[in-house]
Amino acid sequence: MILVTGGAGFIGANFVLGWLASTDESIVNLDKLTYAGNLNNLASVREDARHIFVKGDICDGGLVASLLDKYRPRAIVHFAAESHVDRSIHAPGDFITTNVNGTFSLLEAARAYVSRLPAGERAAFRFLHVSTDEVYGSLNPGDPAFTENTPYAPNSPYSASKAASDHLVRAYHHTYGLATLTSNCSNNYGPYQFPEKLIPLMIASALAGKRLPIYGDGANVRDWLYVGDHCAAIRRVLEAGRPGETYNIGGWNEKTNLEVVHTLCDILDSLVPTGTSYRQQIGFVQDRPGHDRRYAIDAGKIGRELCWRPVESFDTGIRKTVQWYLDHQDWVRDIQSGAYLQWVEKNYADRTSVSGRSA
Ligand code: NAD
Ligand code: DAU
Repeated sequence: MILVTGGAGFIGANFVLGWLASTDESIVNLDKLTYAGNLNNLASVREDARHIFVKGDICDGGLVASLLDKYRPRAIVHFAAESHVDRSIHAPGDFITTNVNGTFSLLEAARAYVSRLPAGERAAFRFLHVSTDEVYGSLNPGDPAFTENTPYAPNSPYSASKAASDHLVRAYHHTYGLATLTSNCSNNYGPYQFPEKLIPLMIASALAGKRLPIYGDGANVRDWLYVGDHCAAIRRVLEAGRPGETYNIGGWNEKTNLEVVHTLCDILDSLVPTGTSYRQQIGFVQDRPGHDRRYAIDAGKIGRELCWRPVESFDTGIRKTVQWYLDHQDWVRDIQSGAYLQWVEKNYADRTSVSGRSA
């Protein structure tokens, strides 16, 4: 049995589904069901007795302690977080509460739990903290990619809160000997991603005939990884990672935002033709404050030490993803509730159109 936090979100849900499909081991899934948590993501395992869903907050130390004592997991895989950079710019408080205090509360509960375990179970226990490449800050063109030794330089309230949580995890290993593992991953894409993030937002907006809002000049670079490959990497780190170590995970797939959006438009042009290209809907809007220019991950260590490499290329992964969104338009419609529309209004209302289509 393992305990997963945030398993109703994008990556967590993909992890839970992949785990139950590939092992016999049960999962306790602790998730607060914030706007980003969605039980529809887990509909296919609703009847599976190996999946125990608990609605609750990682900040609730008593609840976490009681789950650990009741289910005696051999590992915690910690996904739960506030994860959207734009939201962290509008309202950073929730990011500190969940990402910093929540991780602290989870570490404290894990430390107490492990101290009560018999020696064999204690030695086998792992705390896997799922983090991001954004903690390393921003690269210039031509800079080498981030390695595990790149100094931390977070630039947004989101990345600063994740950096703080990474430091706490490191300290719990160093000080208390908790068997921690940290993974720092690049931008994920794939099924079940909430449509506030670039790729699902662009697919949904294109199909709805809306503007495709590109921040700034569209030349910011991200390193894209298909979510199934990220989940496979996490399983591998859990299985064979060395306690106290960090592992960078990435797709060796650097793209500018404009390249990504052009690719999406071209795929949609072939799958859902309308007579004019979806590229006509692209509009350049006011930039994100403090927008990091480039991320790139050197995933050499996890390749050498744990023999992990991504299976999907960007071409195969993005085609699967577009097809998934076309096949699951009800899933998107369910999310596009009042609260979602309020966010879209808030995030884009004050971004005056710089060029291109404006509505
Ligand atoms: P997400 O926003 O889609 O999901 C987060 C989940 O955590 C939701 O189900 C939410 O309900 C839950 N949650 C939030 N606060 C909680 C709390 N206080 N207690 C319990 N549950 C809570 O996020 P995601 O994109 O799936 O990211 C998962 C993790 O991976 C995060 O830690 C994120 O920093 C990290 N990460 C994400 C990416 C990416 O590209 N999405 C890349 C690298 C790392
Ligand atoms: O790098 C890993 C990180 O990737 C994760 O840690 C975060 O949880 C995840 O949200 C993601 O952060 P980004 O800020 O890179 O993702 P987002 O999808 O918000 O934006 C991707 C790029 O696209 C970024 O350069 C901003 C740009 N963008 C985004 C939106 C929503 C636009 O140009 N227009 C938009 O409307």
